Amino acid sequence: AQAADKAKKLLSFKPVAKSLADAVIVPEGYDAQIIYALGDPLTASTPDYKNDGTDGDFDNRAGDHHDGMEYFGLTTDGKPSAKGATRGVLGVNHEATTDEKLSSHFIHADGGTRSLPRPASEVDKELAIHGVSMVEVRKTASGKWEYVKSSAFNRRFTTMTEMDITGPARGSALLKTKYSPDGTKTRGTINNCGAGRSPWGTYMTGEENFNGYFTRPKGDDEARGKDKSVTALNRYGRKEGDTSRHGWESAGSGDKYVRWINAKTGTSADGSDDYRNEMNGQGFVVEMDPYDGKKLAKKRTALGRYAHESAAFSNPVAGQPLAVYMGDDARNEYIYKFVSEATWSAADATNPDRLAVGDKFLDKGTLYVAKFTADGTGEWIELSLNNPAIKNYDKYSFTDLADVVVNSRIAGDAVGATKMDRPEWCAVNPANGEVYFTLTNNANRSIEPKNAPQLEPDASNPRAYSDVKGTSRVQTGNSHGHIIRLREAGGAGAKAFSWDIYLFGAEASADPATVNLSKLNGNQDLSSPDGLAFSQATGICWIQTDDGAYTDVTNCMMLAALPGKVGDGQKVNLNYTKADGSKMSITTPVGKAPTEGELKRFLVGPKGCELTGIAETPDGKALFVNIQHPGESTKAADVNDPAKYESQWPANAGYGAGKRPRSATIVITKKDGGVIGA
Ligand code: FEO
Ligand code: CA
Ligand code: CA
Ligand code: CA
Repeated sequence: AQAADKAKKLLSFKPVAKSLADAVIVPEGYDAQIIYALGDPLTASTPDYKNDGTDGDFDNRAGDHHDGMEYFGLTTDGKPSAKGATRGVLGVNHEATTDEKLSSHFIHADGGTRSLPRPASEVDKELAIHGVSMVEVRKTASGKWEYVKSSAFNRRFTTMTEMDITGPARGSALLKTKYSPDGTKTRGTINNCGAGRSPWGTYMTGEENFNGYFTRPKGDDEARGKDKSVTALNRYGRKEGDTSRHGWESAGSGDKYVRWINAKTGTSADGSDDYRNEMNGQGFVVEMDPYDGKKLAKKRTALGRYAHESAAFSNPVAGQPLAVYMGDDARNEYIYKFVSEATWSAADATNPDRLAVGDKFLDKGTLYVAKFTADGTGEWIELSLNNPAIKNYDKYSFTDLADVVVNSRIAGDAVGATKMDRPEWCAVNPANGEVYFTLTNNANRSIEPKNAPQLEPDASNPRAYSDVKGTSRVQTGNSHGHIIRLREAGGAGAKAFSWDIYLFGAEASADPATVNLSKLNGNQDLSSPDGLAFSQATGICWIQTDDGAYTDVTNCMMLAALPGKVGDGQKVNLNYTKADGSKMSITTPVGKAPTEGELKRFLVGPKGCELTGIAETPDGKALFVNIQHPGESTKAADVNDPAKYESQWPANAGYGAGKRPRSATIVITKKDGGVIGA
């Protein structure tokens, strides 16, 4: 009855309508305040951000494209404290930049150089706006929040910051580079997307689309003797002749530029021109101590290498192992979990040597990949040489566990894991341990697959089209995405699970029999779920969107949900008719359709943005959210013509100099001081 009372009080806010306004909109009774935007200085001596493309010193400023984010409490006198609710450190991912044809135009005075070679002066800025920031935030006497410009906790990790390689791939031949001949270190972190928070208070950042920053020259396949590294590079989206997103490799002969050419670039015998393994140093979950300004970040290779999003921990249980759940965000990629060898004890949560606790839980254990079965069950398949399917795989000969974790995608192929509709964030329900994964969309799901990356729908990815606005814009593929959830059959270390589809993204007007399967109304409808987190304070499940299929109707949004549990709904049949008249039928377990009291829209963002990053104070009274890339479709040629910007946020909300749009962190509070989402 107590739980029912609590639930009744949650989600009592009035839902926010869909919106195309260039503004952050929250429910009546709430405030949203901008506190930390691209370029904001992180030291006392760094000049204020002019926001006209002339700013430098990005090593000491907020990076771009704020993404995954976590909050780490401090006592009022600045000591680490899981209970600290008025002062804390935010870990913030700076995933990427708003760019057009090579150049990140908003950080250059004239939009930058959009042809090769790129000038070093521009590339140096771009190298520094990627990565992660640690930034102190605090609640002031007036009740407003602010970031602390001169805090000793402020720190930047960029594409250039030295990091430790830990776990099975440490010291592996695959990690040996010119920079680290013994394969124990690498430089920097890139395309940091989803995030996570360990039970011992460290920040976990996922390296997502790392491959796109590297080039491979034509002829590299031959130069490598067409060995298995070519197979691996092709599987990770770098074929010979592929060009890089920003052309950083073109900016000069210095190591920091040339390293983005993933090849041996000359004929030396001493390894001084050998960058063949550079890309193997990226694509991991990286652990950082938010309270320590000095310790190196650790790349936890045991968790696998792929396009990482969030890293969600199982609810810790004394005497049992911990699981870390993770998705690989690309079309037709896999869902993974890592299970620690070590078992949990309460003392681990408060050990002040936090990265040593990370060593204990995240370097030794077993990586698994998910296989979903149509009957609503599934299995976790071990990815190691203990598994004959991997040991005897005929398309790639795995050498050792290092090879398996560095090439997890190939290991997933070897065991026949289920190819999903782009696994983005995952999150664990604190109430019952069930694990939720957003599957954001997949244009390549098709009832008539024609080319290799296209796949037929299956029970866990059952939608192959989505009618948009009735039937006038029928789109192929699962364009609105869904959220799948699973329940372990016996704790974090289980090898089996049951599952259903909690929610299908859809427009409210879409056909409820084929597309709007969750029967969403206009106060709940969404497309392309991406960010996902459960509040530890309230149990609310926050869902954020990154949407390509609905942005003509509404900007991206955040919704609040109170989900039930696996198996609370029914099986649904989806019947398809192919062009030749033949039929195809899929039956899939679907969760109970949410009432408005169980799912409603909480926030809509400004134009061109994605909503991402969810962090809260432990009392649930302040919720931090990131507005990523407002105005991202603004043309590089128009950077000095504010009238042509797609968005002028946050300047139009009174934040900072200049009118160029900026990614930023906002904090949401309730006017009556209550918990967020009540
Ligand atoms: Fe960076 Fe998959 O979102
Ligand atoms: Ca994402
Ligand atoms: Ca996305
Ligand atoms: Ca984005």
